[in-house]
Amino acid sequence: MPDIGPEDPFAHLHEEDFETPFMSPLLTDAGMIFMGDRVTESLAGDWRFVLDPFREGLRQRWFEHDATPIEEWTVPRDCDDAAWQTIPVPGCWNLARAEWRYYEGAAWYMRDLDVAPPRDGERLFLRIGAATGRARVFLNGRFLGLHRGGWTPFFVEIGPYLREAGNLLMCEVDTTRRDDAVPMSHFDWFNYGGLFREVELVRVPAIHVTDFRLWLIQGDRIAARVVLSNPTDGEAEIEIDGLGTGRVAISAGEGETTFDLSPRLWSPSDPHLYQVRLRFGADRVGDRVGFRRIERHGTEIRLNGEPVAFRGICAHEDDRDLGRCTSEADIRRRFGHAKELGANAMRLAHYPHSELAAKIADEVGILLWEEIPVYWAIAFENPETFAEAENQLREMIRRDFNRASVVLWGIGNENADTDARLRFMSGLAATARREDPDRLVGAACLINRVAFRIEDRLAEALDVIGLNEYFGWYEPGFDGLRRLLANSAPDRPVMVTETGADARVGLHGSDMQLFTEEYQARVLATQVEIADGADYVAGIFPWLLYDFRSERRQTRHQRGWNLKGVIAADKTTRKLGFEALRAAYATHFRKGDS
Ligand code: GCU
Repeated sequence: MPDIGPEDPFAHLHEEDFETPFMSPLLTDAGMIFMGDRVTESLAGDWRFVLDPFREGLRQRWFEHDATPIEEWTVPRDCDDAAWQTIPVPGCWNLARAEWRYYEGAAWYMRDLDVAPPRDGERLFLRIGAATGRARVFLNGRFLGLHRGGWTPFFVEIGPYLREAGNLLMCEVDTTRRDDAVPMSHFDWFNYGGLFREVELVRVPAIHVTDFRLWLIQGDRIAARVVLSNPTDGEAEIEIDGLGTGRVAISAGEGETTFDLSPRLWSPSDPHLYQVRLRFGADRVGDRVGFRRIERHGTEIRLNGEPVAFRGICAHEDDRDLGRCTSEADIRRRFGHAKELGANAMRLAHYPHSELAAKIADEVGILLWEEIPVYWAIAFENPETFAEAENQLREMIRRDFNRASVVLWGIGNENADTDARLRFMSGLAATARREDPDRLVGAACLINRVAFRIEDRLAEALDVIGLNEYFGWYEPGFDGLRRLLANSAPDRPVMVTETGADARVGLHGSDMQLFTEEYQARVLATQVEIADGADYVAGIFPWLLYDFRSERRQTRHQRGWNLKGVIAADKTTRKLGFEALRAAYATHFRKGDS
């Protein structure tokens, strides 16, 4: 077709490099704002929505939205608002309409934004709690930024781009699985798509608090760090209800101080939280914070100086009816079930869960392992992949730093021990320690199959060696587990970060028949007993609390579900494995008994 010059209406058909102009600015942890006790304006509700499997949205620049009614068009276009459908935000498109169930790829969200523009020097930001995969934000036809990572919040300033009226907010969400992304294209969970957490506006003073951290230091005193949006000088005031007040000198936009106060320490048996308030200039924020110490000594983990054993359970953020969306009720139910098991810990697999999870864990007293989805065969050679993983780690730490329940940052899961992976994950461990020197760092590792030992070159960079092992399921019998534990002599704590067996709820039979509830019950009881026999095993997190969606599982029993839950996907029907695990925890992993 002849090139008819700049107005060539077919140019977009030949431009395969259409994404490059929309790869920056990247929205990262650098743009985060401290949100504690801030008032926000929710954008929850029905948005307009359309699938975009061929990426026409970027190719044909749908975001330069033209509302001319189709009757008045002089040339045809490929997008007309009237064809868009509606979708609830927060939500996952896979469960919104049957025809969207298995859709993976790009989709567009759009809504009018009828909000008061910023006034008196204030600044107005859009905050998206999470969007699967990659998300691009457009306001009134202007591209504002790209966020990579499907489970951490991101912010973009919209104030300067608001019009007096007729503002249009658009968001492209792209769940395409990529070999160079984090996670990469192969994982054992359902690839839900959408703006699946809160989407809101937040107004802040010109100079505002972007980060506010509190932690316990030697001698059980409190340290605080304040970071502002601007490199200004001044003084911040901190008030900790029931403990006292203090001031933080701010220089060039940041300041740190210690308080000679001895707080009541937080623990699962005494989850005491303090209401904290911070003021700087016109900005007011707050938080509810527990103070505790978590350390390792040799192969022992100590909470507030006392040995503690982790009676854990793993959980995905997955719901039969809501997909990846969760709620306070869903989370409280999850922790309630864990407590009924006698668990004092939960591994929030395999990605940062809703920030509500750690806030509620702070209240109810559950120890948390939180992690980023550096899962299986990540492109460990790729620097861009490292940047994406590192940013997700920093965003997770920034968001949940003040959560006492979070005692460990997990930096990966079941990654083969290669040189590239060692460099990549040692780098992540270093970032975690730089961002947060007082928490443990761990990873769910594999074993050295040649020496048949708990051995991984990454262990040097970790406080806790996670061990994913499925003796009794993927590997018959338990002699291998006994041999492995006897044959290993790690110099730091090990936690069994996964073990378990599928059981189809209601399928009963011999405890030697795969997929029966009896089989799963036997595996869990035996695993806990054997693991508790090794003095360097500081805890165990059986896989897992609830059955969850995974299209990798296609047997007559599973049909797209991973059935290793001790409770079925209805989050109500318990399997025999639930009682077996509860009974096991009554007598095992009771060190410190918290
Ligand atoms: C792996 C993996 C999990 C997976 C589980 C299983 O260890 O970490 O994400 O679901 O095993 O096979 O069920």
